[in-house]
Amino acid sequence: MSLEGLFLTLEGIDGAGKSSHLDAIEARFQAAGRTVVRTREPGGTPLAETLRGLVLEQPMDPLTESLLVFAARRDHVTRVIEPALARGDVVLCDRFTDATFAYQGAGRGFDAAVLSTLETWVQGRGVAGLLQPQVTLWFDLAPEIAAERLAGARLPDKFESQPVEFFRRVASGYAVRAAADAARFVRIDASRTREDVWQQVEAALVARGAFALATTGAAP
Ligand code: TYD
Repeated sequence: MSLEGLFLTLEGIDGAGKSSHLDAIEARFQAAGRTVVRTREPGGTPLAETLRGLVLEQPMDPLTESLLVFAARRDHVTRVIEPALARGDVVLCDRFTDATFAYQGAGRGFDAAVLSTLETWVQGRGVAGLLQPQVTLWFDLAPEIAAERLAGARLPDKFESQPVEFFRRVASGYAVRAAADAARFVRIDASRTREDVWQQVEAALVARGAFALATTGAAP
């Protein structure tokens, strides 16, 4: 008997509040008996964390930025995500490729066709298609409210210091991605109270059977 791995990602514009639910999601899976690998993008390996520092701090053109986030992703996918899924773990990842389409694609105006090519190179699994999350929790919040929440919270990085128009484009990039893959995306109304947002997150995961111990192979 072996467990099936579950690849779960959290997405949304800066200030949408997704990261504040990571602890609770992890604890909920652990209570259901699952081993959780909690990770993030860009990042998740020593090399990818080094690349993250460059992407978040250095000015660069959008192609350079896209190549660096996909280089980081390649290292992360091969060293951490795929081995964890093969073990049957839950991979709980703060952002993944949807963020590249939203930030570098919609936000910075970079060519989505080039991003799709890079996605195929990095996440291609031959006849099995593309490695994609099974579930993506999309924390949707008006950019003006997100900006208010971010203001004064901490020293902003390269993206957090962008004007609200940038986040309007990023938000519409997420909406386009979600519409194109409605089976994978769960929209979370992030304008509600923290407790209400958690209820939405938990209900969505329960509805998808995420806490059930899905098994493959011979019956016990
Ligand atoms: P974030 O995930 O919000 O982490 P923290 O809460 O520590 O700030 O920050 C990562 C930033 O990187 C965020 O502004 C989005 C950006 N990003 C991209 O531009 N492209 C990508 O492909 C990814 C994964 C993130």
